[in-house]
Amino acid sequence: MGFWTRLTHHFHMLRIGALTLRNGLMMAPMSGITNLPFRRIAKRLGAGLVATEMISAVGLARRQEKTFRYLKSDPEERPLSVQIFGSDPQVMAEAGRVAVDAGADLVDINMGCPARKVIKTGAGGALLRSPDRVRAIVSAVRAVCPVPLTVKTRTGWSADQPVASDIARIVEDCGADAITLHPRFVAQRFSGQADWGIIAHVKSQVGIPVIGNGDVWSPSRALDMMQQTGCDGVMIGRAAIGNPWIFREILDLDKGLNPRPPELWERRKIILAHFSLLTDLMGEERAAKVMRGLLLYYTKGLPCSSRFRGAFTGINDLDTMIAAMDAYFSLLTGSSGIPILRPDPVAHPTSAEEQS
Ligand SMILES: Cc1cc2nc3c(=O)[nH]c(=O)nc-3n(C[C@H](O)[C@H](O)[C@H](O)COP(=O)(O)O)c2cc1C
Repeated sequence: MGFWTRLTHHFHMLRIGALTLRNGLMMAPMSGITNLPFRRIAKRLGAGLVATEMISAVGLARRQEKTFRYLKSDPEERPLSVQIFGSDPQVMAEAGRVAVDAGADLVDINMGCPARKVIKTGAGGALLRSPDRVRAIVSAVRAVCPVPLTVKTRTGWSADQPVASDIARIVEDCGADAITLHPRFVAQRFSGQADWGIIAHVKSQVGIPVIGNGDVWSPSRALDMMQQTGCDGVMIGRAAIGNPWIFREILDLDKGLNPRPPELWERRKIILAHFSLLTDLMGEERAAKVMRGLLLYYTKGLPCSSRFRGAFTGINDLDTMIAAMDAYFSLLTGSSGIPILRPDPVAHPTSAEEQS
């Protein structure tokens, strides 16, 4: 992509139904990952919209306490998209109603999840085999849902059924306000590559905003996706895990600035904020468990991070974890604040995928 095209601003305000987002840069719903603390951090770093992980419509409709916990929110993250999954139109409608009563600013319907336990109930990606059911579900939720309604989907069930455009037209017909497309087949799960050409095709078929998603691993790839597909927004999943700065970096690049990767002090500040929000949400013991996994992501690609990982195994309490992180960070920082260890020979783990 040339210099001049980089100067174009892509991430301006985006309207979805009656809602105006500050930008069209979104964090993808990710089960077990996009909990309230992570969503707040993504928002602090520039994301225009965050979403809950998929929530069982049956659980919401039955008002199960365990399911309700996923609806816990905070003003900082608003507007909030609540994603629901299910296969029964009336249950989905009831779940949508419950989500709105609990404060959802948008309701999103999952039509792409490849997990077996979801598929076997006819929900998630299984819906792509039943366009009539798609129609019934979107219409039923639309009828009761006073906030913007969106659908997140994939290319189709399997390579012989590329139905994304049909599905997009159906959901637009039934009153959805936007569609997000992760252009892989359900049967592919996460293998192969996202086929961005499908995003461009769907965009040409509908009038509602189309959000592109899949394999955006770096700030420049977000701009590439917009440019190559004409999509109205970009949704980022895996690349934001342990790297929520990606949102700020994309917005910087979009303004023609050099993306600002986090300095160590800022990385530390956000990690500690993440710790603290997790502790508030789930108590110290569980927060420590979750943070153990997240710290590996937060230090991915830093110099000698594999050495840190080694030192880190077996630590179970937050204080010791923070002390180990501080020891590692101070090793990285000379008095000038510049890392003094040589970079790991194994560089960024996602680079293989990035070459795609
Ligand atoms: C751990 C994990 C959990 C996910 N959970 C959900 C989910 O709850 N709902 C959903 O619509 N997609 C879910 N996804 C898919 C992502 O939202 C996204 O579509 C996919 O990761 C592709 O985007 P990416 O290449 O930017 O990661 C999940 C993905 C991952 C890796």
